[in-house]
Amino acid sequence: MRLLENNIQSYDFYIEKENMREEIVKGLSAPVKTISSKYLYDHRGSELFEMITELEEYYPTRTEMKIFNEKIQEITMAVGDVHTLIEYGSGSSNKIKALLHNFASLKEYVPIDISRDFLFQSSLELAMQFPHITIKAVCGDYTGPLTLPLEAKGKKVIFFPGSTIGNFEPVEVRNFLMKSAKLLDEGDGFLIGVDMKKDSEILEKAYDDGKGITAAFNLNLLTRMNRELGANFNEEQFEHLAYYNKEKGRIEMHLESQCDQRVNIGDHEFSFREGETIHTENSYKYSIDQFQTLAMECGFEPSKVWTDDEEKFSVHYLKK
Ligand SMILES: C[S@@+](CC[C@H](N)C(=O)[O-])C[C@H]1O[C@@H](n2cnc3c(N)ncnc32)[C@H](O)[C@@H]1O
Repeated sequence: MRLLENNIQSYDFYIEKENMREEIVKGLSAPVKTISSKYLYDHRGSELFEMITELEEYYPTRTEMKIFNEKIQEITMAVGDVHTLIEYGSGSSNKIKALLHNFASLKEYVPIDISRDFLFQSSLELAMQFPHITIKAVCGDYTGPLTLPLEAKGKKVIFFPGSTIGNFEPVEVRNFLMKSAKLLDEGDGFLIGVDMKKDSEILEKAYDDGKGITAAFNLNLLTRMNRELGANFNEEQFEHLAYYNKEKGRIEMHLESQCDQRVNIGDHEFSFREGETIHTENSYKYSIDQFQTLAMECGFEPSKVWTDDEEKFSVHYLKK
């Protein structure tokens, strides 16, 4: 633990390069080449994601913020007297900034993110803005074995906005929700933003914008592997691909090889056929019933749900 300011501590469980290399080599050696979406978020990836949130086509951020703004009183009532707020995938912490003024009883905020510099920078800004709250910034992979620096007093609420829950596979999402339920005590809560099923045209535009920012976000993964793992991907020989897989109810993002080629990561060589892809992200979409049923199966009781008028996005409050 390091003390960064009077009211901020940092905990570092950063993924070592060797572990990242091992996981990526394994994913690229599989019959369908796949890399976990968590590797999209180096510092540049986080910056590009912030740019995505401001795009016209990317409705989730502004729709979720609109729900928070319009329903803040009901949300505050549902959450009640929270002592500790834990946020998964906090990124810029912009959404919590909008909510913190309303959680008068809050004593500690525990943001968790894999993008280290981005996390510590946004936590510092927050610490200055909210000097009465202790901030315990945890850098690490929330799917891994993290030990959280939690005080055993008062009500705990997990905050997981941005529909990042959609990145989990059906089996993973259950394990993750059950693991989250174990962190909580009876009466604690989970406030989570979940993107909803809708017209595939709206979805596909949100993940393949006209300015090419989402493409740059996806392709940045190749740049990151070149820089951090000594790989030799030619970014110009891959293209961003995003489409809605209706059967699976998910947006898929891929990097598509534009020719037959070979690429090295250290001693490992990978061959790509023209048109072959690296699957880099899934974003599952849920109806309200589907998500509430899932939550109930994982140890939560759905308490409240809010949506926008067009039912594009949902915010659920679940009780342990
Ligand atoms: C889709 S963005 C959402 C950011 C922000 N919460 C929002 O709603 O705009 C996902 C965030 O989760 C973080 N993240 C993704 N996978 C992660 C993992 N396995 N462990 C920790 N953080 C992760 C990313 O760095 C990023 O900040």
